[in-house]
Amino acid sequence: MRQWVAWAAAAAMACAAGCGPKSEGTEASGGAASGGGGKKLTVGFSQIGAESGWRTAETQSIREEAAKRGVELKFSDAQQKQENQIKAIRSFLAQKVDAIILAPVVETGWDAVLREAKEAGVPVVLVDRGVKVQDDSLYATLIASDFVAEGRMAGEWLAEQTKNRPEAEIGIAELQGTPGAAPAIDRKKGFEQGIAKNPKLKIVLSQSGDFTRTKGKEAMEAFLKSGKKFGAVFAHNDDMALGAIQAIEEAGLKPGKDLLIVSIDGVRDAFQALIDGKLNLTVECNPLLGPMAFDAVEAALAGKKLPKWTVVQDRMFDREAARKEFASRKY
Ligand code: AHR
Repeated sequence: MRQWVAWAAAAAMACAAGCGPKSEGTEASGGAASGGGGKKLTVGFSQIGAESGWRTAETQSIREEAAKRGVELKFSDAQQKQENQIKAIRSFLAQKVDAIILAPVVETGWDAVLREAKEAGVPVVLVDRGVKVQDDSLYATLIASDFVAEGRMAGEWLAEQTKNRPEAEIGIAELQGTPGAAPAIDRKKGFEQGIAKNPKLKIVLSQSGDFTRTKGKEAMEAFLKSGKKFGAVFAHNDDMALGAIQAIEEAGLKPGKDLLIVSIDGVRDAFQALIDGKLNLTVECNPLLGPMAFDAVEAALAGKKLPKWTVVQDRMFDREAARKEFASRKY
């Protein structure tokens, strides 16, 4: 049952058009899913932005699934800003959506707006990244990969690959994701656990590349100029690794050979880089979350109890595995 008690407050706080997030309005849809009483379901989707190939694939998956189910989707691109996501959520509430799908840019700072959604009786399904809130009943469920496990897989792989190397220390240059984002925090943590298996490995350089190719390249250029010695690169996502590969090549070095490079996501461009021998490993992080997200929306609206976190399973891909999978790769 929807609770409209907070409607007036939510409407008063609603953002006027154009005051922040890039809203693309309502999207065309087929005509099946219903919010009850035969009414077509309306769902607001607050997306972080379009910083990476992974993000684009996630957006497409949600859009396609909405269209397939006949859901009216209100899409808002926050351009990497939490304030824009908060405005978008308030706008969705003012527009009386049935449910909200949120991919939160950072972990903290969501309590107030999620409470507004709860008071309005609008379930919020989190996709891809988690939040830290005092009361976890403020969201219906989280559908996401285990970022700590992803980082650990990358770290353990590197530890194994370097265990017989003669050097006393192998420096690692780390390209971090967006500060405060769950995948940046958790992948770092997991990676550090993984490399602990080989005491020779040490992170000697670390900088944020904001999950983008451009900033990944810039950060790598700075690393290469720093004079610090490093033999491996860990990028929190593929796009930053691909930017770094460009910088390494421009510096006259051979990525994948002079420097071992590991990253996370498993996008097609990274598969190509694996096949070309320029990237050594990518840990998949599946962005095709549309079907699971709308299953969760429908279950929440039907009053079903959902697990607090549905873990999306991930795999690792080296050159051989990439070769086998490349033709059928969906993103
Ligand atoms: O939250 C998932 C991460 O966000 C992906 O690894 C990255 O590419 C994206 O920007």
